[in-house]
Amino acid sequence: MKALVKRHRERGIWMEEVPMPEMGLNDVLIKVKKAAICGTDLHMYRWDDWSQTHTNPPFIQGHEFVGTVVDTGAGVRNVHVGDRVTAEGHIVCGHCRNCRRGMGHVCENTLSVGITRDGAFAEYVSIPESNIVRLKDSISDDFAAIMDPFGNATHTALAFPLLGEDVLITGAGLIGTMATGICRFAGAKNIVVTDINPIRLEIAKKMGATLTVDGSKGETVADAMFQLGIRGFDVGLEMSGAPAAFNDMVQHMYRGSNIAQLGILPSDTKVNWSDVIFNALTIKGITGRRMWETWYQMEQMLLGGLDLSPVITHHFKFDDFQKGFDIMDSGQCGKVILEIEK
Ligand SMILES: NC(=O)c1ccc[n+]([C@@H]2O[C@H](COP(=O)([O-])OP(=O)(O)OC[C@H]3O[C@@H](n4cnc5c(N)ncnc54)[C@H](O)[C@@H]3O)[C@@H](O)[C@H]2O)c1
Ligand SMILES: [Zn+2]
Ligand SMILES: [Zn+2]
Repeated sequence: MKALVKRHRERGIWMEEVPMPEMGLNDVLIKVKKAAICGTDLHMYRWDDWSQTHTNPPFIQGHEFVGTVVDTGAGVRNVHVGDRVTAEGHIVCGHCRNCRRGMGHVCENTLSVGITRDGAFAEYVSIPESNIVRLKDSISDDFAAIMDPFGNATHTALAFPLLGEDVLITGAGLIGTMATGICRFAGAKNIVVTDINPIRLEIAKKMGATLTVDGSKGETVADAMFQLGIRGFDVGLEMSGAPAAFNDMVQHMYRGSNIAQLGILPSDTKVNWSDVIFNALTIKGITGRRMWETWYQMEQMLLGGLDLSPVITHHFKFDDFQKGFDIMDSGQCGKVILEIEK
């Protein structure tokens, strides 16, 4: 089969002919229809510091996908050939202390599809039955293919109550724009979204931002607060991973408010801790998706009419994957989807 392999320890990703995935007793073989390129795929494509320390090529990339079940191992009970499925990309052990207390998203032994095991930028992918998710037919293939980042957005956005709250989102990237839609859906009052990329802020507007703040044009959060007549934000969703954005957020939170931190800040990020301590802020780190509450919440929001289509800006044929990585590399896009099945 054809697959996109992170073959060499250098910038790039390569299309190769590889053997079909191996299938265990409890695995499901999926013919991949569509797969989306994640920010993490871009990190590995660029072969940045994180990829050099967290991955071990060669492996097949890709963890955001939708496809059709074509085979099931002898131990599989609840998934059937012909089912349209996507999957939770974190494969957890089920035995560690956290797994046993219902906190699989912080399992001690997580494997990640498309990062620490072969993924879905391939004609076929094999996934344990435990990770398979079937979605209602009314949810489109495009949306089904981006459930993984939508899940990061959902987990972060719903970390604290939103109804009637003023929300600041720093980073209108692939996840921040989806979080904007979630906050609107969940009844937030004002949603202010910051970025330094006008294309992404346009998407945030379409997803329901009350105001956007383009730092590259000298716009400020303080001006947005003045326009809205608010004294600070009740909920902060940090989705840029940029130290400047994080500090901007800390300075503009209402006293006693909450920040959910998804963006991966550099380890040497400086913070004015007095602002956190004396304003009694809570900062909650977010990783992955809760298993499986996040998935139920996502499905229900989509069935309830949350429209993610503004977030998806490009589709490419599988053979044209390079165009997809190029546009991701430029940042001039929202979600990019590869059409894997011909
Ligand atoms: N914790 C987790 O489990 C998890 C999972 C997925 C992604 N992430 C992280 O979450 C973050 C968002 O992911 P994504 O896929 O949306 O990434 P992304 O690159 O698409 O989005 C980040 C956005 O932040 C913007 N930005 C950069 N500097 C800024 C600044 N000073 N102020 C405001 N915005 C700024 C960028 O222009 C970009 O649009 C990243 O840091 C990513 O690594 C964490
Ligand atoms: Zn992803
Ligand atoms: Zn575990």
